[in-house]
Amino acid sequence: MNPSEIEHVLVVGAGTMGHSIAQVFAQHGMEVDLVDINQTVLDHALNLIKSNLAILAEFGRVSGDEISEIMDRIHPSTNLATAAQNADYIIEAVNENPEIKKEVFLQLDENCSEDIVLASNTSGLDVFSIVEIKKPERLIIHHWFCPPYIIPLVEIVPGPKTPPELISFSVKLMESLGKKPIVLKKFTQLFIINRIQGVLNLQVYEMIAKGWITPEQIDLAVKTSLGIRLPIVGLVQTQDFTGLDLILDVQKNMRMNRRYPQVENLVKQGRLGIKTSKGFYNYEGRSEEEVLKKRDRQYLKMLNFLEKINAFEPV
Ligand SMILES: NC(=O)c1ccc[n+]([C@@H]2O[C@H](COP(=O)([O-])OP(=O)(O)OC[C@H]3O[C@@H](n4cnc5c(N)ncnc54)[C@H](O)[C@@H]3O)[C@@H](O)[C@H]2O)c1
Repeated sequence: MNPSEIEHVLVVGAGTMGHSIAQVFAQHGMEVDLVDINQTVLDHALNLIKSNLAILAEFGRVSGDEISEIMDRIHPSTNLATAAQNADYIIEAVNENPEIKKEVFLQLDENCSEDIVLASNTSGLDVFSIVEIKKPERLIIHHWFCPPYIIPLVEIVPGPKTPPELISFSVKLMESLGKKPIVLKKFTQLFIINRIQGVLNLQVYEMIAKGWITPEQIDLAVKTSLGIRLPIVGLVQTQDFTGLDLILDVQKNMRMNRRYPQVENLVKQGRLGIKTSKGFYNYEGRSEEEVLKKRDRQYLKMLNFLEKINAFEPV
């Protein structure tokens, strides 16, 4: 299937995620049925979408004229069965509860055509084990990030029966919506970002519980260091700039009980990072000064921008 053939989308669940996912599809010209069991949630969802579109207009990302056309393409409903019959693509964004998800997919399976792609926006549930549908090879995770109408990343997570064609369809579909899809090779609980965020959160809770630092000071520390570096060098490339030999020394000094051999192996190969032209990344053919200049120009642009918008103040 080609994403350009999708005309009717069904989004199930109109809460924090569903309303905004529906908005993105409607912004890209598709008719969207937005279904929830709760009429009050649906009414609120439409207000939120209007407000989101007004913000996008403020930033020149939609025109004022487009807003009413986008709103007209979104059809709120409490009738899942009827909406499922019309859909070319379905994404589920109901509560992160295995029983609720199982029930929703049973209803979808009964009512939609067997060829329709069924995607779940679960944050980490193994829907491939939970959900019972006739053709499980059409099930895939499309994990969006909050707020979906702004954040580009969508994690694509295949199940044990997902064919490669469904993965490439998913990538093309997300790209056609202006998103940045990242494909995991296989299902792993919590995927990429929630895993990383989970580890960070554990450290945050521990430091607060032990009274070492206040929540506000943690956020200020993160914003004034990682906040500048992460958008430019991510979590892996940043280590090439630190020096992998130093990172290995720190790991040894900390006597970390859970160590992976990657850093040690790279150091053994003489790949210490930017200073040896190779680390996790390969910098051969470029001088150290050239790479550092490129990084530092980006850092300074980021710093100027963050200072300009007062990002170091709490929201
Ligand atoms: N909130 C986030 O930041 C976030 C980010 C990424 C993924 N997710 C995932 O997205 C999913 C939805 O999360 P959320 O935060 O939007 O939840 P939410 O509680 O805001 O919304 C869930 C909605 O599903 C509706 N619902 C429940 N049963 C239904 C049914 N049978 N048919 C139709 N609608 C039904 C509820 O009425 C509710 O409005 C979860 O799986 C969650 O893990 C959430």
